[in-house]
Amino acid sequence: MCGCCDGCGERVCCCIPYGVRDDIKNCLILLAVVAGLVVVAGVVIVIVIFGGPLRHVRITVEDASLTRFALVNEPPTTALAYNLTVALTVRNPNWAIGIKHNKPLEAAYSFDGQPFERVQVADKGEKLGARKTVVYRLASGSEGRAAALGNAGEAEFRKENATGVFELEVAVTGKFKYTLRKTKCKIEATCPLKLQLAPPGTTAVVAFQKVDCKLAKSDDKYC
Ligand SMILES: *[C@@H]1O[C@H](CO)[C@@H](O)[C@H](O)[C@H]1NC(C)=O
Ligand SMILES: *[C@@H]1O[C@H](CO)[C@@H](O)[C@H](O)[C@H]1NC(C)=O
Repeated sequence: MCGCCDGCGERVCCCIPYGVRDDIKNCLILLAVVAGLVVVAGVVIVIVIFGGPLRHVRITVEDASLTRFALVNEPPTTALAYNLTVALTVRNPNWAIGIKHNKPLEAAYSFDGQPFERVQVADKGEKLGARKTVVYRLASGSEGRAAALGNAGEAEFRKENATGVFELEVAVTGKFKYTLRKTKCKIEATCPLKLQLAPPGTTAVVAFQKVDCKLAKSDDKYC
């Protein structure tokens, strides 16, 4: 079996039988193929996770209640006295990518298109991990927040006041970044709410139906 140096040029190989040499060769080929596959799979996974399509955050209003909503008319200003609680949820549906707020996340409340309050939801630097949902319970109230309702807004107020159901809008704005991505993505969502005025001690006739906030489409394809 020895003395079979068919061009391999190494003294040791001459004493390894053909069969074993083939086994070693096959073994090495298999090893190389497996290593290659592992590398390819790793690269694909990294590309899919960090370079693949991203899913935008989802914002919903799970619950909301209005216990006071009144017009305070003290010319020359018009103001709204109100007590409102909103349970706002922000969900990151991405499988492996977290987000981090680059700007405070804010919710602005408006009536008939006129903003009357802004509340901070999440602070700058706050993070939301992959597949995580966070619920922000926002409670705010005022004896009178100026709102540029004008004649038309006051008329709309009286109209809705007569029904006891007010249409308010929550506009959520912010900016965030995905893990390992440079682009700053905007959050611009609007949540239309129909709230039955239910003073403390009374219960709303109609239970609150969860509202899916409408996200503005981003013009940045990396968001
Ligand atoms: C509204 O909120 C204020 C605190 O901001 C509270 O003192 C008041 O009792 C609340 N009123 C109603 C009607 O919930
Ligand atoms: C709204 O309705 C309440 C009774 O439901 C009434 O007391 C109040 O004066 C009304 N406000 C306005 C501005 O019409």
